[in-house]
Amino acid sequence: MADIPQLIDFSAAALDDAFASLRAEIKHAVAEPGFDADAFRLEWLGRKQGRLKQIGDAWLKTAPAEAKKLLGQRFNLLKEDIESAFSAAESGSAKSTSGTLDPTLPGASQRLGAEHPLIRTSAEIVSVFQRLGYSVALGPEVETDFYNFESLNFPPNHPARDTQDTLVLADQQSKPENARLLMRTHTSPVQIRSMLEQAPPLRLVIPGKVHRNEAADATHSPVFHQVEGLCVDTHITFSDLKGTLDHAMKALFGSSVKTRFFPSFFPFTEPSADVQISCIFCGGKGCRKCKHSGWIELLGCGMVDAAVFHAVNQRRIELGREPVYDTEKISGFAFGMGVDRIAMMKYGISDIGLLYSGDMRFLEQFA
Ligand code: FA5
Repeated sequence: MADIPQLIDFSAAALDDAFASLRAEIKHAVAEPGFDADAFRLEWLGRKQGRLKQIGDAWLKTAPAEAKKLLGQRFNLLKEDIESAFSAAESGSAKSTSGTLDPTLPGASQRLGAEHPLIRTSAEIVSVFQRLGYSVALGPEVETDFYNFESLNFPPNHPARDTQDTLVLADQQSKPENARLLMRTHTSPVQIRSMLEQAPPLRLVIPGKVHRNEAADATHSPVFHQVEGLCVDTHITFSDLKGTLDHAMKALFGSSVKTRFFPSFFPFTEPSADVQISCIFCGGKGCRKCKHSGWIELLGCGMVDAAVFHAVNQRRIELGREPVYDTEKISGFAFGMGVDRIAMMKYGISDIGLLYSGDMRFLEQFA
């Protein structure tokens, strides 16, 4: 067992010197050919006879009270150094079985992480709109009934609520209905939150996780992701909406992709439309993926309903803000798409559940 160095001067500088020489000794030991990591650990970190323990006991005994804290801090750092030197030596793949360093052996390969396909797809969609001048807005997943439904023109008990059943938080009965908390069913509430904060013009892209009370199957998950868009300005027309989405679909799926718009219904847009793109698998000829129609339905959209602007103005007044969403002067469009289904299409994923399984064999294919 090596001697315990004596310490007389307990000033910070003297302590730094003493610890530096211990550190140099450790560095030297680790670099020795034939370095034995187990013996090294026992020598330095052994609980009863370890040098660190012995030096600690000896120095703490003789140290004046005011130096004990300085000593303690330095011991902790030294202990961390010894432990990391030990684990680096132990995991070093350049060490042969006899314990000597063999620099010709391959290094330890680091497994790199990768973006989850959902995150990657969501980011791709967002960046298409950022390039058109949209900024990103985010909102909470636990939302009030007001933002998720009422302000978006889903009155209480309206049958349109049935299309977006969700989980509600417990013990909310004492609150007025529109203040009760629920898991948001779409990213559309962020439209309202944004319009309460900002005056027009607005161009926003809103990615996020949403929840619905739905049974899981190959194309439905009770938790999924959406990207919403909102554009409000003077003279915004349905042809702006068509042009924007046609451009976005071409940017996402290739310039040969065509879009078509069908009448649909959302309480918060009027008129509303479902957007289909020509099948990216068969180019529109008809195949199993597009159910031989040549088209795939991808998103919902429409012109912002005047009732939404009125709800925003009303709430802005309650908050002491100017009701600046004047439907005589401004108009807007909105759209929302499911990221999961787009990711499934882009990457040929047949079951949405795989995206949430955490199965490394599946995820590693995207690394
Ligand atoms: C909405 O959620 C509207 N908020 C979209 C919108 C925004 C319309 C702005 C107009 C203006 P919808 O319920 O259709 O619409 O959902 C949008 C997309 O989410 C669907 O096209 C689909 O791709 C995806 N989606 C819906 N339910 C699920 C589910 N259970 N699992 C996976 N994806 C889903």
